[in-house]
Amino acid sequence: MKTYQKLCTEFYDLEPHRDGAASMIFYIDQARQANGLILEPMCGTGRFLIPMLQEGLAIEGFDASPYMLDALKQKWARLSSTPPPVWQQLVQDFSSSKKYTLIFVPYGSWGLITDVEASKQCLQNMYEHLAVGGKLIIETETIASVPQPCEIWRRGVHRRADGSKIAVNTFATYEPATQLFKSICRYESIGDIGIEEVETEDFWMYLYRFHEMDELLREVGFTDIKKYQDYALTPATDENAHILVYECTR
Ligand SMILES: C[S@@+](CC[C@H](N)C(=O)[O-])C[C@H]1O[C@@H](n2cnc3c(N)ncnc32)[C@H](O)[C@@H]1O
Repeated sequence: MKTYQKLCTEFYDLEPHRDGAASMIFYIDQARQANGLILEPMCGTGRFLIPMLQEGLAIEGFDASPYMLDALKQKWARLSSTPPPVWQQLVQDFSSSKKYTLIFVPYGSWGLITDVEASKQCLQNMYEHLAVGGKLIIETETIASVPQPCEIWRRGVHRRADGSKIAVNTFATYEPATQLFKSICRYESIGDIGIEEVETEDFWMYLYRFHEMDELLREVGFTDIKKYQDYALTPATDENAHILVYECTR
């Protein structure tokens, strides 16, 4: 994977995320109710997984990026001497003999699987790994979420604890025909003498049409599908909603 590398991971953990406290409350609540084994594919640096582990919940996770997983492990090592139950893997390759009572993929990350057929196969795989009565909670970012204006350079900067800086410059495009949001990202680590390290990334995300994920979820076998437009669980009726949260029970 050419995304979520070293500087990207560092920037990710300094960035306030748009889903904020509301999504944390929602997912922790879901995890508490799961009453069984929980899986977080694409767990990243453990934004959700670590607080759940701290609560003593039976959660495990995996992620494709060794950098994101290293950051998770470092954070966890400050809290516990036991290794965290996480491993490196692509969603596309996931297989286990376990069944989960909750599988969740927050923050629109599912769109990082940019091929719809692969997305459907992965959803099928998630379905197969759910216990009967178990839930898949998954979010999509929608085609309405494309930042406006597009095709301009944007810059974000964070200051590290030691006073040095980390910056990102992004140039985003959106192709309606493919529903692909593409962003060229250039991360810079900036010290006393100027730019000390550069990392580039081609970030692609597939953005879903309002009804598109509903169809995929039905096709893989889900019949009990709830769809919300926010973490307060407002039923999704606004076709311009930027995110859609699906709660699907097997
Ligand atoms: C936006 S981050 C979200 C991390 C975490 N869920 C959160 O909300 O902070 C997306 C994560 O998905 C991982 N990822 C992207 N594509 C993946 C794939 N095909 N299989 C597994 N992980 C993937 C990336 O490495 C990254 O850590």
